Formats: sequence, structure tokens, C-alpha cells
Amino acid sequence: MDQKQIAAIYHQETKYYETKMAEQQKPLKWDAQPAPFKSYHTEKKIDLAPYLPLRTNPFTGKPIEPVPEENGYPFTLGSLSRLLYFTNGVTGILQYPNGESLAMRAAPTAGGLYPVELYVAVRNNSVLEDGIYNFQANDHSLVLVWEGDFWTELGKYCFDHEAIEPANLLLISTAVFQRSAWRYHERAYRRILLDAGHVLGNLVAYAPEEGFFSYPIGEFVDHLLNRLLFLEEDLEAILSVVALPQNPVHIDPSQKKIPQHQSAKTEENSAMDPLLLQLHKGSSIQDLNTEAPEQNPTPDSEETLEQKYHLKETTLLTGEPIDWAGGVGQTILLRRSTRAFTGESFSREELAALLEYSYVATSRSPLFAPSYLETYILVQHIDGLEKGVYYYAPLNRELRLIYAGDFETQSWHFCLGQELARDAAALVIHTAHLENAMTQYGNRAYRYLHIDAGHIGERINLAAIKLGLGVSGIGGFYDDEVNALLGLPLEQIIVYITTLGQPHGLRRS
Ligand SMILES: Cc1cc2nc3c(=O)[nH]c(=O)nc-3n(C[C@H](O)[C@H](O)[C@H](O)COP(=O)(O)O)c2cc1C
Repeated sequence: MDQKQIAAIYHQETKYYETKMAEQQKPLKWDAQPAPFKSYHTEKKIDLAPYLPLRTNPFTGKPIEPVPEENGYPFTLGSLSRLLYFTNGVTGILQYPNGESLAMRAAPTAGGLYPVELYVAVRNNSVLEDGIYNFQANDHSLVLVWEGDFWTELGKYCFDHEAIEPANLLLISTAVFQRSAWRYHERAYRRILLDAGHVLGNLVAYAPEEGFFSYPIGEFVDHLLNRLLFLEEDLEAILSVVALPQNPVHIDPSQKKIPQHQSAKTEENSAMDPLLLQLHKGSSIQDLNTEAPEQNPTPDSEETLEQKYHLKETTLLTGEPIDWAGGVGQTILLRRSTRAFTGESFSREELAALLEYSYVATSRSPLFAPSYLETYILVQHIDGLEKGVYYYAPLNRELRLIYAGDFETQSWHFCLGQELARDAAALVIHTAHLENAMTQYGNRAYRYLHIDAGHIGERINLAAIKLGLGVSGIGGFYDDEVNALLGLPLEQIIVYITTLGQPHGLRRS
């Protein structure tokens, strides 16, 4: 197998086809389901629950006595507690009739499987020892995994990213592959990356409320960083690092060291590995050698996204931006994926406000490959918009009607027969020309595109909840049927679908 093209091969091999679903969706082995939390044999935990903005501790059921915030420099335990909570803490407990329960988290996750773990690197803090901690979402605590100041190594392995040195806090997200692969097999890697993007979306949206500036970093030498955390790479691996300084950092793109994305040592990638691991390894950066930026292909400008379909009939999306007074945290607390839509419409102004929050320029800078993600919107019931397939030009805030029509039966079908798609008012469909993205990022483009789509997906979630609308991601679809509906060649891959509509059973705010 040509490992240079592993992303394209993986994508093709993990497409769903109606005729093959019986063999692609194998029966679940319930007794083999991995736990969604990591456990460490230690009594030494740092309890972050007392700082939660809640009346009752969700893990003990006891009232939370407010604790003073003043100790802790340069940031308090309280702000770290809330940052982790609103990024991916337990925000709800689902009780099943058989007595079992599911701890539901701040970020959505395909199949309720929660493959993403968070680690926290801290230094120079007056109440926390220097070190790398694992965030234990199941009781909202920290466990010190490795003691010491690792900033030199962290900076070096992330190609001296400018935001690392000024920061005293980094959040490192990993994926425990089997949690998702248990159910989704090879296609799990797509959903894992989308899940990681949702978690990142919460972090980037919430961090300013605690006084942090967030700088997501996707370029790092995988095996060196994984080794720093002593991860067994075939089981768990790092997907992103986020530097969280308390002052803004000027990032000069001309100074950026661009690693050789194609440098995967293919002979080390065993053809015996599952495809998921072959892609993960094939999209790894193997060494610290960097190429001069001018030797890399010129990045596609985001402007090209604006040129598409520019001769088509255009609707300018204008409306009042969402008022986030009161904080995004309150919305994260309320966020849940909608399980059924009524089939009713919402307004063009609501769609405008939602897309504005999800795509505005300031929220695009934390994306890893913003020039390559192309957005299509299938309008099924939006007041003031003709039904049909639209292209969305994010910077111009324009919807361009590619063709009009009623496609609910098709959307129901290509989303594997999910009524959620049929009854949605609109579907936001993220696509990308994979080959073009790979000319800049190699196989790693696959990670970036999916994490970015999840990141935008989370912003769409938050905006929808804030507006009183229903929302849910959809990770399973018949890929080629979506291409056919959008009129796109197969080189343009379908990355992610987010459904929006009026939620059943809830009155709108
Ligand atoms: C990447 C991704 C794919 C998803 N795919 C589907 C889907 O195909 N159908 C569905 O009903 N829900 C889907 N969901 C929603 C999850 O089922 C939901 O997030 C999970 O059960 C946790 O519930 P919560 O979002 O309410 O916290 C998806 C979520 C994500 C993040």
C-alpha cells in the first residue's frame, strides 16, 4: 500500500455503501467495550470539583461549598477547574432503566464513546507542582502523571511554536483509539478526529472567559511528544496541543517553521496494522527537520473559498450576531444533541447568526487548515430561503444557490436512514478536496480537515443551543451519495454533516 497516499486510501476504504452495510457494521461485543475513563493507581488526586459553578457536586451528590479563589498564581485552581469542565467535563448523567448510567460530557461524541483524553502541562504555578497531569473527568480531578518542567521538550517537539514559551498552561488532547474502534472499526478514526475537534471547539470558545488566549497546535513530532507522555502509541496518541498564555501572542507566519509533512518513514508502518493505525502513523511527523517555507507548496488562500460558484444566485446572510452576555459556559452546560426534529423551519436570520459565530474571521485562526474546508448547506425548511443545495462563502457571508429542490428523502437515505436528517431544517455539510490539502500537509491533512470540521461543528452546536434550536452531528453517511447530491466529484471528500432544526419536546426560548 502506498503510504504516501494512505489518507486517500483510508478514506476510500472506509466509505459506507448501502449494499455493504451488513458486513461493515458488525455486531457489538458488549463485554469488550473499553471504559471511557482512564484510571491511575494513586490516592493523590487534586480535587477540582469544589470550584465548579454548580450547587451540587455531580459525582458525590453533596452540596458544593464555595471555596475562595484568591490562591493560585498566575492562574487559580478555580479557573483551571472550569476550563476543563467546560472543555470536556461531565455535564449530565443519563440513567438507564437497568440501573446503569452514562456520564455525558461538555462536548458531543459519536456513539457516546468519548475517545478523547485531556492532559494538562503546568509550570510556575503557586498551587500546582510543575508537571503533566491527566484530567479525570469521572470525578473532576487531576492526577499528576509526570513531575517536572517539560517546556523545553514541549517547545522543541512543537517546532518552537511561539505561544508555548509565554504560556504556563498547555492542554494536550489524545485519543484512546479502541474506545471508538470498538464500535466503528476502521471508520472510527474519522469520528475520533471529529470528536477531538468538538472538544477543541469548546476550549477555544470558553478559554477567554477565564482570561486565557488559546493557540491550537497541530504540528508536532508525534513519537517524541507521545514518548514524553509515555503513551503506548498503538493504543493512545496525541492529536493536538493547545498553548494557553494569559496575554496574546503575535504569530508571524513568515517565521513559522514548516515541518516535512511527507516525512513518514513508511517502512515502519506495518501493513499488518489496522487501517486506522496505518493512517495515524502515516499522518505522523517523524522528525524535527524543517523545510524552508518557500520550498513548500503555496498554501491555497482562503480567498479561493470565496470564488466558488460566484456566478450563482447569491443571498447575503445578515442578521443580529448572537449576544453571548452571560458567557458561553452556560450554553455548554445546556448543550445536548437533539434526538428528533419536528420538521419545522427556523429563520434565515437565525441561520445567519449561527454561521457568523461558527465561521467569523476571529474564530478561523485556530483552525489547522482553514483554506481547504468547503461548506455546503442543504436547506430543507428555512423561512426566507428557497429549498435546495447552497454553497457557503464564509468571509463574504454569502449563500449561493447551486440548485433548488426538495431533497429530504435523499438526506434521510444518505444519513443511513436517520430521521434526524429528514426532519432537519438544514444540513451543514463539510467537504474538502483531499488531494489539494495533501499537497500542503501530506497525509496529516486528513487529521486537520476532520479536527477543523469538528471544531466548526462545535461552534454550530453552541450557537444553535444559544438560539434555542436543535442540533446534532452525523458521522455516518453514504459518502458517494452525498457527493452525488451536491454534484461534487469524488475527489471532494465528505468530511462531516451537522443537522439543525426545531427540537422535539422542547419549547424554544
Ligand atoms: C462526530 C459525531 C458524530 C455523530 N453522529 C451521530 C449520528 O450519526 N446520529 C446521531 O443520532 N447522533 C450522532 N452524534 C451525536 C452523539 O450521539 C451524541 O453526541 C452523544 O450521544 C452524546 O450526547 P450529547 O451530545 O447529548 O452530549 C454524533 C456526534 C458526533 C460528535
